[in-house]
Amino acid sequence: MPDDSPDRPRILLDCDPGHDDVVAIVVAAHTAELVGITTVAGNAPLDRTTYNACVIRDAMRLPVTVHSGAERPLVAEPKFAAFIHGQSGLDGAELPAPDRGADSTDAVSFIIETCRSSEGTWLVPTGPLTNIALALRAAPDLVGCIAGISLMGGGTFGNRTPAAEYNIWADPEAAAIVFECGAQITMAGLDVTHQFLVTPPRIDQVAALDTPFTSIIADLFRFFSRMYIARHDHIAGAALHDPLAVLALTHPHLFRGTDRHVSIETHGRHTAGMTVIDRRGITDREQSNVHVLEHVDADAAWSVVFDALAEAGRRSCR
Ligand code: RIB
Ligand code: CA
Repeated sequence: MPDDSPDRPRILLDCDPGHDDVVAIVVAAHTAELVGITTVAGNAPLDRTTYNACVIRDAMRLPVTVHSGAERPLVAEPKFAAFIHGQSGLDGAELPAPDRGADSTDAVSFIIETCRSSEGTWLVPTGPLTNIALALRAAPDLVGCIAGISLMGGGTFGNRTPAAEYNIWADPEAAAIVFECGAQITMAGLDVTHQFLVTPPRIDQVAALDTPFTSIIADLFRFFSRMYIARHDHIAGAALHDPLAVLALTHPHLFRGTDRHVSIETHGRHTAGMTVIDRRGITDREQSNVHVLEHVDADAAWSVVFDALAEAGRRSCR
């Protein structure tokens, strides 16, 4: 049975699977009305992120379509993240082949048509913001159609540079378009996602579910965490970034945040891709444009993610 989350928002997930993007797909299918998946180049080249999204769609028998989008950022050169996700974008497990490939290669049209035809859809991007920026540029009216944008990205510190988080850093021009579009924006940045780690006990919990799908997820988590731990001075497991952009909509009571003005640095030699978050307590600061998430009840969030994985495991065995 789908999760009885307080809200079941209608969401369109734009992603670059990516180990944590996979969990965002699983959680969205369990807790929201997932109307479609679009893919973007990011953690891996577009053909790989798209293939990976189709693998998960079919392993979970999801009745949703996958549409591939931008194979490169608006201006920057493509920069992938094999050092964290592996060459395939989803290293660490034997993945079943998908039943079919992408349902279209026109993510931008899918985003525009879906948001225009069903008002009140949330856009949930968990990769570089290229597809979202292209859709907003082609159809500025989308801002009035969508409920808002709940994105994973940014923060007061970076993970690709000291100042910039990967999703923003990979396509800062796209991020600037999105952050300035005027839509309601919720931002799950590194400050909150680094509170949500897939630790060994949590991996063991998933492995103990002992279904083909959840065994794959446990293997993916082990790989993802191994790469994170090797790359950090001290961290107990990989940060499970992307599902928080979904849970912010389906389980808002698990979070605390503040409305801030956030702008995107697109030119700084040391700061390109930085989310410049105005946290000053002065009265003449710019009006806020983003709800910045600052705290998550990690144990409660994990309980929702675990239930979603268990449901996906049962679904995949039918
Ligand atoms: O910085 C973390 C983000 O970059 C996550 O979305 C991860 O999947 C990668 O895309
Ligand atoms: Ca991602």
